[in-house]
Amino acid sequence: MNITHPAIHDYLELNRPPSDPVLQAMEEYGRAQNFPSLGAQCGRLLYALVAISGAQRVFELGSGYGYSMYWMAKAMSDGGMIIGTDTNPDNAASAREYFRQGGLQDKTDLRTGDAVSLFERESGLFDLVVCDIDKHQYPEVFDLAKRRLRPGGMLVADNILWSGRILEDTETDKATNGIREFTRLIFSDPGFFSVIIPIRDGMSLSIKAGE
Ligand SMILES: C[S@@+](CC[C@H](N)C(=O)[O-])C[C@H]1O[C@@H](n2cnc3c(N)ncnc32)[C@H](O)[C@@H]1O
Repeated sequence: MNITHPAIHDYLELNRPPSDPVLQAMEEYGRAQNFPSLGAQCGRLLYALVAISGAQRVFELGSGYGYSMYWMAKAMSDGGMIIGTDTNPDNAASAREYFRQGGLQDKTDLRTGDAVSLFERESGLFDLVVCDIDKHQYPEVFDLAKRRLRPGGMLVADNILWSGRILEDTETDKATNGIREFTRLIFSDPGFFSVIIPIRDGMSLSIKAGE
């Protein structure tokens, strides 16, 4: 999953402070389950984005057992809400228990079902949309997020460098092509300013114009 040089990844890991005890338990659970969580470095980036932007309304597509939601909820001031989504109800049950342990249950609402359908059904505008679902769905999420972000709102997507597979002409599966098309969309749409941050597996950040 990591596209950063292993020594650089280790350096970043050694220098960051430890996560809080609940997050450490989540990290341990993720390792034990071999679950592809986005990890502490990307978690810290999500925390920073929520803290800088003051986001109060967040929608996440693909929340697993709540690791990325937890980081964002920690940074969010009272009154805000992160709606998360996952197809697996067992993941959602684990997440709710971790949110309870961290005292974050009032800022988190994790729903079970297809994230795209749940996003389509949700009304109102969002300050931040985070995309971490199956990769072939990324272009569809871009089109939806475009309509559902407030001006100045942000779209963040994980795995945008896809372990380097996006570089290989022989990789033509629908996941890799989904990421390629998403990348084309975020950089070609004049309504967004985008940047890719090459930590872990690569995260994109796209700011909607118009504020
Ligand atoms: C890579 S994991 C990451 C979860 C979380 N963002 C984290 O970093 O801990 C992606 C999750 O998205 C879920 N998922 C994939 N496609 C989905 C979809 N269409 N709707 C809802 N959940 C989906 C999977 O069940 C999985 O738990």
